Amino acid sequence: SKDIQVAIDGPASAGKSTVAKRVAKRFKYIYCDTGAMYRAIAWLALDHHLAMDDTAAISQLAQQAEIEFKPGEEEQRVFVNGTEVTKAIRGNAVSKNVSAVAAIPAVRTEMTRQQRAIADKGGIVMDGRDIGTTVLPHAQVKIFLVASAHERARRRYEENKEKGIHTGTLAELQAAIELRDQKDSTRKVSPLVQAADAIKLDSTHLTIDQVVDQISAIITKKI
Ligand code: C5P
Repeated sequence: SKDIQVAIDGPASAGKSTVAKRVAKRFKYIYCDTGAMYRAIAWLALDHHLAMDDTAAISQLAQQAEIEFKPGEEEQRVFVNGTEVTKAIRGNAVSKNVSAVAAIPAVRTEMTRQQRAIADKGGIVMDGRDIGTTVLPHAQVKIFLVASAHERARRRYEENKEKGIHTGTLAELQAAIELRDQKDSTRKVSPLVQAADAIKLDSTHLTIDQVVDQISAIITKKI
């Protein structure tokens, strides 16, 4: 068997990270949550009280940012320049501003560089928006994971409630998710789009286990 690259892309809250984490565990691959990296840069920008249109200053922050993932009890812990931001990057302020930060070309160049360095270390499952199209264009397995906006909002609402993260009502959450998808899909650099060679999976009516099993079967054929 060989170590391969698995790219999982799709809109917000489609279950990418949950599924990617489990697939990585099953094959003993590295898991990389690229959304957390863009969120960490957005957190840094907010922490520095930068305006979201100050692209020069935010680009510089990104180029100097050291983002680290460390194993945690349940989920990976995220650190930026030594500060733990695991919980802070899931809050409303970051979620609202991350798409603007992620649309800055120099920010994407730097994150893509860091993501490829992580992928160079071995078998990898990476989730995000542009993994199959830009970051790992030669990934042997590319999945485009989708679900209805209503189902995605419902899942995220339940998840936030469990984690004690306050994000408003279900309707507000759905509106915020749809706005973020719209921004991510229409930006100039590496927009959210299905790669030509990606397999589309609709998880609206599937359980997490079913999605993990389907992706695992696709991987097993390649290794
Ligand atoms: O995956 P998650 O929803 O945490 O990603 C947060 C945001 O980061 C996305 O809405 C998008 O703006 C940005 N992102 C991106 N490219 C990626 C991963 C995330 O632009 N590969």
